[in-house]
Amino acid sequence: MNYSPIDNIKTKKLRRHWNGLSKCLRSSVLSVIIITTLICIYFYLLHPIVTISKNGTEKNEIPSQLMKKDSSNILRPVFGDVPGVDGVIEEPSDIDTLENSNDRSNNNYRHELIPANRNHKFSGPTTARQKSVVKAFKHAWKGYKRFAWGHDHLKPISETYHDWFGLGLTIVDSIDTIYIMGLKEEYEEARDWIEKHLHFDVNRDVNLFEVTIRVLGGLLSIHHFTKDTMFLTKAIDLADRLLPCFESESGIPYSDINLSTRQSHAPKWSPDSSTSEVTTIQLEFRDLSRITGDPKYEIAVEKVSMIIHKLEKKDGLVPIFINANTGQFRSYATITLGARGDSYYEYLLKQWIQTGKAIDYLKDDYLESIAGVEKHLLRRTVPNGLAFVGELPGGRGELKPKMDHLTCYLPGALALGTRHGLPERHLRLAEELAATCYQTYAQQPTFLAPEITYFNLQAEKSQDMYVKSNDAHNLLRPEFIESLWYLYQITNNSTYQDWGWRIFEAFEKYTRVVNGYTSIGNVKNTAMVRPKDMMESFFLSETLKYLYLLFSDDPKLIDLEEYVVNTEAHPLPIMYSNN
Ligand SMILES: *[C@@H]1O[C@H](CO)[C@@H](O)[C@H](O)[C@H]1NC(C)=O
Ligand SMILES: *[C@@H]1O[C@H](CO)[C@@H](O)[C@H](O)[C@H]1NC(C)=O
Ligand SMILES: *[C@@H]1O[C@H](CO)[C@@H](O)[C@H](O)[C@H]1NC(C)=O
Ligand SMILES: *[C@@H]1O[C@H](CO)[C@@H](O)[C@H](O)[C@H]1NC(C)=O
Repeated sequence: MNYSPIDNIKTKKLRRHWNGLSKCLRSSVLSVIIITTLICIYFYLLHPIVTISKNGTEKNEIPSQLMKKDSSNILRPVFGDVPGVDGVIEEPSDIDTLENSNDRSNNNYRHELIPANRNHKFSGPTTARQKSVVKAFKHAWKGYKRFAWGHDHLKPISETYHDWFGLGLTIVDSIDTIYIMGLKEEYEEARDWIEKHLHFDVNRDVNLFEVTIRVLGGLLSIHHFTKDTMFLTKAIDLADRLLPCFESESGIPYSDINLSTRQSHAPKWSPDSSTSEVTTIQLEFRDLSRITGDPKYEIAVEKVSMIIHKLEKKDGLVPIFINANTGQFRSYATITLGARGDSYYEYLLKQWIQTGKAIDYLKDDYLESIAGVEKHLLRRTVPNGLAFVGELPGGRGELKPKMDHLTCYLPGALALGTRHGLPERHLRLAEELAATCYQTYAQQPTFLAPEITYFNLQAEKSQDMYVKSNDAHNLLRPEFIESLWYLYQITNNSTYQDWGWRIFEAFEKYTRVVNGYTSIGNVKNTAMVRPKDMMESFFLSETLKYLYLLFSDDPKLIDLEEYVVNTEAHPLPIMYSNN
């Protein structure tokens, strides 16, 4: 800065005044200046971080608070040093692709990732169908509260509870559904329980994948909605306890861990982890890194994705078991888009979306796998030509014409891909597969799908599909409703809403009991559905949430441009690079 002569004269005068002051007065003035400077530094430098941990006093303002902050309040996590993933990965870390190159110096870099602008409201149901879904939710919640409060699941018929991990699963899993539905009282109860009673110091083995998608995902999602740091603190504690799973020889995580001792191990019944489990934790751990600015979570899960990326596959299709010690697939394991394979494919797509489409190998692997599905697994039934996705037992040879209900997530994923610019051909496949999934419901007298359906490929038979009695149960699963929501969002075709409504009516008719909803053992006989006395947490977390979203007349209730929804229906923000 250039001083003008006048400034110079002023400066001299000032110095004379200063020297004339008493020593005591001088040091007082100096202290004031120093303190003021420190306060200024605090606000200018630290304030953005402080706002992240700002406790929601707004918590009490629900439901007016049941709305999003505008963009000025959005988190702006800043990474410090982000090393590449040691050794295993020779290619430049894909984290690099998101950096702000202007800030790069000495191999350290910072980058800011801002979620898109979210400013819509969750102000409760607006359509008659949504109101019915909220009623169903309240009915389920009431039974859970009365007989199972604080436990994982409600057993509505025996009027008791079931504990799996002992983590109050139903509460943590459904608190964001509650929030989206605008249920004030239920939200307060759930938040209060989580704050006071959800502790992770439990001497019990838990499954890394299940706890990640349900508990970590649930906490992160509600944290994004409310900015209440109580949830974030719990999420960090949980994730830190889960991290030792990744300390295997290969970096492929062990499937189970004791949250108290933090000892991880392979499942008791097998030396291998499930492929879909180790590849369906990335959205959640990455999100936590992006919120906290601590890259360790993202690094651990990114490494898993990278290892799998480099393994040999069958046209993008993966065997369903992988060994945590060797980092290799189990030879001759089944290839399926159902149990133990399903969400590997889902998270390739969703991770690519979550990171602002910045990581190419995820998209490439996804596209290759869908081509692999079309080549190896996609068939059409006799006589009516219904498209379905079968399985390859042993990873080769003849197709088994069997499809898990779990596979009915695929139409939704395919549709979502096209929304983000992937080939339109995928949308046509999605619509075809959705029509088949719908038939797995519609052809049962209960109008509810079984867990597994077999399809006919033989000319001499007249039925397109059949169900074995061991597979005839319905666990209140969400996958097809999820697909209907995506398809409706993407096509505007209200047929998908009507299909969802028919299914909802069937749930009401055959699974609703006095104290909640129950899985049933048999969808093939309306007079003998055989209630199984179990209300899974995903019924509240996913099935009812997707129904509520499906029946909304606001296409931006959960905007697909802003959120990517994890495999347990917990929305997480899409991160866009800020440059
Ligand atoms: C971890 O939890 C299991 C219960 O699932 C318990 O039996 C075991 O003793 C715990 N492990 C250790 C090392 O304490
Ligand atoms: C947040 O503030 C409320 C009251 O304003 C308090 O009851 C609660 O304990 C605080 N939570 C955290 C995590 O600081
Ligand atoms: C669906 O409707 C929305 C507006 O409601 C419109 O922006 C969008 O282009 C429509 N999509 C299709 C596929 O027709
Ligand atoms: C809506 O979807 C249904 C089921 O796929 C289809 O039969 C119908 O033709 C579609 N309607 C429109 C207007 O595209």
